[in-house]
Amino acid sequence: MPRTVRPKDLLSIADIAADLETILARAERLKRDRHAGRGRPSLPGRTLALIFEKPSTRTRASFEVAIHDLGGHALYLSSRDLQLGRGETIGDTARVLSRYCDAIAYRAFRHADEIELAQHASIPVINALDDVEHPCQIVADLLTLRERWDGKWGGRRLAWIGDGNNVLHSLLLGTAAVGLSLTAATPEAYAPSPAIVEQARSLADRSGARIALTTDPRVAARGADALYTDVWVSMGDEAEEAARESAFQGFQVNQDLLELAASNALVMHDLPAHRGQEITDEVIDGPRSVVWDQAENRLHAQKAILEYLLPPNGRARRVARR
Ligand code: CP
Ligand code: NVA
Repeated sequence: MPRTVRPKDLLSIADIAADLETILARAERLKRDRHAGRGRPSLPGRTLALIFEKPSTRTRASFEVAIHDLGGHALYLSSRDLQLGRGETIGDTARVLSRYCDAIAYRAFRHADEIELAQHASIPVINALDDVEHPCQIVADLLTLRERWDGKWGGRRLAWIGDGNNVLHSLLLGTAAVGLSLTAATPEAYAPSPAIVEQARSLADRSGARIALTTDPRVAARGADALYTDVWVSMGDEAEEAARESAFQGFQVNQDLLELAASNALVMHDLPAHRGQEITDEVIDGPRSVVWDQAENRLHAQKAILEYLLPPNGRARRVARR
């Protein structure tokens, strides 16, 4: 049942748990319209600021194209070029951008900074990846699975093979919200946050999804309907590269692992991929791979997210703050 009061911000995928299916249905519609050349500019004149502290290909490009297709405009603001990089506070940056723009997408090193920006912005703030979550990615991923599985989550199981990182955190919450079961295999030292696992389990109690954690990739992969992996060294973790490469041996998604999964299992990766490390060329370029659909779906998902936070019939809800 869609809820009536929408959250101001999308900092965690849990913020939109109640409306996730509605957002996915809208993204599917937006995709059909774009493919048929029928897009409608539903957010004319809106301005989306993109503050990026880390590099990006997909998130930046898909947000820029999404807001353009919807009739609005994007403002790319690398943190290196902002006064933020010279010590201006996050709060002051939020107050100023709220006077010009209609929403901010923020890729941050620290989740705490994401929260601080949202607290001081009177316009919606969208988490474009931080050290804890990557919610927009998971909206696109669920869209990809919904297309392949006709929107039926019951009886399906996704296996995560790799790091207990930002992508896994949002995946745990997003799959639990819609009712898709998930087994996550991570090395013991790189398990997901216990607080997020607990939050996901409480969403799963309501949706009927099952969540399991293991340190054995083969246990997770056996019989799974999809295998999902991500880099072993996320942006910001570079100092741990050597330790991580050794801890993740045995966590590669390759043909041997794929053979343990269901015969029609899908292979997922949020990209960028480190080919030959967490995934082989054979698998990422193979017939089970849906990674290019995941990447394309970022665009349709971003549009649905923007429309959701910036309702088309009226200006953005601006919260009066000093
Ligand atoms: N998947 C993803 O967020 O990619 P970028 O880092 O290129 O945005
Ligand atoms: N976990 C990766 C995702 C990149 C899109 C990172 O944070 O670098």
